[in-house]
Amino acid sequence: MGNASWNVLNPKGKYRVIVTKTLPGSRWIDILTAADCRVDVCQEKSVLDVETIRAAMVNRCHGAIGQLTESWGEALFTALKAAGGTAYSNYAVGYNNVDLAAATRAGIPVGNTPGVLTETTAEMAVALTFAAARRLGEAERFMRAGRYTGWLPDLFLGSLLNGKTLGIIGAGRIGAAYARMMIQGHGMSVVYYDLDANPELENFVSEFSKFRDTWGLRPVTCRRDADLEALLKAADCVSIHTVLDDSTHHLINAHTLGLMKTDAILINTSRGPVIDEAALVDHCRNHPDFRVGLDVFEHEPAMAPGLAELDNVIVVPHIASATRWTREGMAILAACNVAGLLRGDPLWGKPDIEPFLGEHPPRAIPSIVNAEELGLNT
Ligand code: DGY
Repeated sequence: MGNASWNVLNPKGKYRVIVTKTLPGSRWIDILTAADCRVDVCQEKSVLDVETIRAAMVNRCHGAIGQLTESWGEALFTALKAAGGTAYSNYAVGYNNVDLAAATRAGIPVGNTPGVLTETTAEMAVALTFAAARRLGEAERFMRAGRYTGWLPDLFLGSLLNGKTLGIIGAGRIGAAYARMMIQGHGMSVVYYDLDANPELENFVSEFSKFRDTWGLRPVTCRRDADLEALLKAADCVSIHTVLDDSTHHLINAHTLGLMKTDAILINTSRGPVIDEAALVDHCRNHPDFRVGLDVFEHEPAMAPGLAELDNVIVVPHIASATRWTREGMAILAACNVAGLLRGDPLWGKPDIEPFLGEHPPRAIPSIVNAEELGLNT
């Protein structure tokens, strides 16, 4: 099993499942052991390379739970299949680290963990938005350095968000939750860019605007714009919630940054490579009033040279989904994906995954992203 250290739970279990990191909570372990799984949990904090994971399969591995930091491609899916594997789940909602075509070729269903990250991730996007708008990183560093000598009329002037225009790139679950938080809390109007319309969000905003009207408050609006450039020009704050694929790689680059207002705010809680980080560093150097909040990085865990020195950028280490409830929920969903596949359960097929978090999770597989390709049914 290589040099990594692994903890073995329920050693006599019929199926062997490897889990490449210790996960929060204990329900996920109960779910796997109740499905007659021996569970091998890697104790390492460092990111496991392909060779270490392959070595851990040791010719007998029926299922695996992997991390977004690992490269699950041809090599690992072929090895998993050869070891008797029929189940994989990412411990994440995003799966850009997984070669879906390779998994499908090996006949291995790939699970993910949607539905428990929505509000948590949106709340972090809100936190970063305000931290960037009100310069919290800079102000905190200033305070801790003992540089505060007294109140001044122009100390750390920031931007007011109330009533401004929000640009959302990707109005799926998380993007829409963030939009609702900013509209309800701060009377912002929204322009969103997405391949699909989000009529629920649009209706919500229209009803909410009527409600505001009864209180004498100015209307709020929400519209989809097929033109990203127009959105970037119009928005006071842009928040990225799209998936990472070929069409979104470096969507934000020197050209698109140049279209944004010079004092705009840019937030990214999706995936780092959506932004050309070197271009962002240049842009922030040349536009000190442009403010940025980043949870994700192009070459994670590294930051582009110069990024850490920029006062107009606030950075956190990919923790947007890091609440106990969410991370335990993700572990439960990943375990239910693998246990359900090994038992031969049907697919759940509904967006509401809350029943899996209750005392008696349904006998179903919560979420498989290549179900259609593999002909799996609800
Ligand atoms: C995910 O699940 O894709 C998130 O990035 C984890 O924080």
